[in-house]
Amino acid sequence: MFKIKQALFLIFGITSFIIFYIGFLNYLKTQDSNMGLLILLFSVIVSVGTLLATFHVSKNLTKPIETLVQRMQDFSQTNIVTPNPCDDGGIQELHILHKNFEEMANKVGETLKKEKQLNIKLKEIDTRKTEFMSMISHELKTPIMPIMGYIQLLKKEELMGELNEKQMNALNEIAISTERLQKIIQDILTAQKIDLGKLSSEKENVQSRVLVENAYRAFYPYCKNKDVQLTMLLDTNDNVYSDPDRVSQVFSNLISNALAFLPEKNGTIKIGTLNNSDENVTFYVQDNGIGISDDQQKNIFKKFYQVDTSSKRKKEGSGLGLSICEGIIKNLGGRMWVKSTLNQGTTFFFDLPKAQVPVDHLDSLDKPSHSNHLAS
Ligand SMILES: Nc1ncnc2c1ncn2[C@@H]1O[C@H](COP(=O)(O)OP(=O)(O)O)[C@@H](O)[C@H]1O
Ligand SMILES: [Mg+2]
Repeated sequence: MFKIKQALFLIFGITSFIIFYIGFLNYLKTQDSNMGLLILLFSVIVSVGTLLATFHVSKNLTKPIETLVQRMQDFSQTNIVTPNPCDDGGIQELHILHKNFEEMANKVGETLKKEKQLNIKLKEIDTRKTEFMSMISHELKTPIMPIMGYIQLLKKEELMGELNEKQMNALNEIAISTERLQKIIQDILTAQKIDLGKLSSEKENVQSRVLVENAYRAFYPYCKNKDVQLTMLLDTNDNVYSDPDRVSQVFSNLISNALAFLPEKNGTIKIGTLNNSDENVTFYVQDNGIGISDDQQKNIFKKFYQVDTSSKRKKEGSGLGLSICEGIIKNLGGRMWVKSTLNQGTTFFFDLPKAQVPVDHLDSLDKPSHSNHLAS
């Protein structure tokens, strides 16, 4: 790409050379030597004049344009207008261009400054809101402990006397609702910790198989009781560097969700690992439930998002479960995603980084490429 200065010199250089060359040819051809000399002198004067004019035009036209280009580049990198004196070469259009750029850049600069201040304020408000919520949740948590304690006491006949059937039913309802309240408060507290970047985790080298087995054991009795087929499929066994308790929390949320959206009959849940990368182990929880539409999939990891928010909604929950799962997995250095088809089922996946230490050979699966089915 040519610079304007180079283009000017090229055009006017060639022009002045042609003028000189024509004059020189005339000088050689003409019979009248005086006339020839005059034409040669004239052509020399015109070509030198053209070159001098080119210098002058270049100085007045290209310099201000180059200055403007430089100022624009500086502005795009720093958002500050270089306080150079406005060099417009005395050309009106360039003067207007410089002035307009300066005005525009100042306005953009001011807007960016205001936006930055606003962002800082918004962050402060957000942090204060999160801290406030966290404090409130703590305060709510405290009175729940004695409520739970007294519920247990009331159930003890020898201490509080016998309750009739109606009273016992009412007490059980109170207990269920209190547990739900406790879970919601716990979820809010965990979500707050994730937002504030204060979620603690204790990482260790642990086999991916152990993490899946823990989840399987925890849910097997419940699934059997509800006639749900829970299957464990292990395509790999690697050491991951992670927090087993936090991973259990994620599995527990995902399996509880799966259970809530299964068909009434022939519900199946598959949990397991996939071996598809050198760096990570992929875990998954798959169900054959109602599925989630493509549009809703974009939102389900957002806090408090629930697909069915109508009063007809049968499933309980706060809409925090998946955002907590994603927060935990990110905190453990992984990522989480979903694949789902309406009326066919949903699979939630999450990656966890492999540990540097490989699983002891004897302890690993016999045939890692085969699936290990532990159907209920
Ligand atoms: N396995 C699933 N099958 C169908 N829908 C699901 C599944 N898991 C989650 N969802 C949808 O995503 C929403 C958000 O889930 P979650 O964050 O766990 O909140 P909650 O369970 O408290 O409603 C749920 O309300 C539900 O509509
Ligand atoms: Mg949930």
